[in-house]
Amino acid sequence: PDGLPVHETDVIVIGAGIAGLFAAIKASKNNRVLMITKKSLFDSNTRYAQGGIAAVISEEDSPEFHRQDTLIAGAGLCDPEAVDVLVHEGPEGVQALIRYGTIFDEEDGHFALTKEGAHSQRRILHANGDATGFEIVRALAKKVQDNPGIELWDDHFAIDLLTEDGVCLGALVQKPDGSRVVVRGKATILCTGGTGQLYRYTTNPEVATGDGIAMAYRAGAVIRDMEFNQFHPTSLCYPGAPRFLISEAVRGEGAVLRNINGERFMDRYHPQLELAPRDVVARAILSEMEATKSTYVYIDITHESPELIKHRFPTIYEFCLNYGLDLTTDWIPVAPAAHYMMGGVRTDLHGETNIQRLFACGEASSTGVHGANRLASNSLSEAIVFGRRIVERIDRLPPAEGRMRTGCAEGRHGSLMGTVVERRLKLQKTMVRYVGLRRNAAGLSKGLDELKRQLPLFQSCLTKREELEFANLLTCALLMTEAALSREESRGAHYREDFPERDDANWRKHTILQREKAIG
Ligand code: SIN
Repeated sequence: PDGLPVHETDVIVIGAGIAGLFAAIKASKNNRVLMITKKSLFDSNTRYAQGGIAAVISEEDSPEFHRQDTLIAGAGLCDPEAVDVLVHEGPEGVQALIRYGTIFDEEDGHFALTKEGAHSQRRILHANGDATGFEIVRALAKKVQDNPGIELWDDHFAIDLLTEDGVCLGALVQKPDGSRVVVRGKATILCTGGTGQLYRYTTNPEVATGDGIAMAYRAGAVIRDMEFNQFHPTSLCYPGAPRFLISEAVRGEGAVLRNINGERFMDRYHPQLELAPRDVVARAILSEMEATKSTYVYIDITHESPELIKHRFPTIYEFCLNYGLDLTTDWIPVAPAAHYMMGGVRTDLHGETNIQRLFACGEASSTGVHGANRLASNSLSEAIVFGRRIVERIDRLPPAEGRMRTGCAEGRHGSLMGTVVERRLKLQKTMVRYVGLRRNAAGLSKGLDELKRQLPLFQSCLTKREELEFANLLTCALLMTEAALSREESRGAHYREDFPERDDANWRKHTILQREKAIG
């Protein structure tokens, strides 16, 4: 990046979901912070989180119960130490959110706690019924905006990390007018979220294009467990409507699933019925859709009182009503949709990656908390718990020294043929078809070939933001497909038709992809 303007700060936070907002606020106590978001503070997966945030609050609950539920959901791949950190430090994280202005729902003078799939206890705090993420973003964004120690760059796109001898020194950033600037700091935190846009059907907003994971990969970071992509069982599936999330908390409050013939079916699939682990419910729905030749099943909560439904799920109620569907009287058509990336940039227990001074937090990271399947509502807790730990470590770092080079090197070269919109759609179709809820070697190999055919786009430097985003999506798609092809067993969210059993003897291990050893 010789010749470009250089902007100096202490801590660079890339991304504006709960991980970015929380880390920025914490880091601002002892550091200058630059926060970069590619759209605005209100464009993130967090903003759309409904169900809530899991933490041990109730006296009937204990860290040990939360630990067990998380480990069971994670299907043998969680890092028990990371899970310990989560369950023990989660309650303090929630207190910090409250100190920063988040208002959680209460009932009879106590926090109202709900239950979601695979939780043995009621431990999910929520806000404004089903608008938990929005409330958290509202409170934290205000704190960020009011904080003179945090410089906020909206509508800026981080293109690549800048590294020198295994140390991250900052990032190359594109401004809204297309010009570029080097930002330099003693630490960089990737809070860029997940990869929902890899799929045509997703609960994620348009910004979820895996930028941080792709950037970190190009810079030589270890990327872990990309085959574990969680599909949410129940997203709205209605002509003209987006795949809006119908929270698991709706099932937590008693909703049942029915196929298009009106039959309740979960008893044929799992003893925990509608609250079985997400991958089980999602695949059960898919099987019912196939058996009935339908593109959806129904979620039915009409047996509950209209008052309860409207009070607990005001956002979902209003959203569905806009499309003529009344949650209090109608069965709502739903289908699975891509929701959450369990894998990501591998970190230690303080959020640091194998590249010194590069940290990852939230969905972009692989801390070891989620294993092969994330327990519902553990993601918001993970972001705050590890965000605090990251800042603790950053506070002890001396200033950085050294020259910088981009992590992109030869990786981003190519002229982009065809429109980006067409390419994105093609990629999403490939992923739905071959790297979806059910996978097999033949399909994954075909998927990999189709994705690789898009690679010749790398022949001259990409400049437009949509092109850069597409290149990131393609990198993540290749990483995910490669990982899914290599894991010859079924575990958690990764289901192989040709290897339908979990194989602890051979596969109780992580999938590691790093640039030299893998594609690209
Ligand atoms: C939901 O409300 O169902 C989503 C919760 C989560 O993904 O953790």
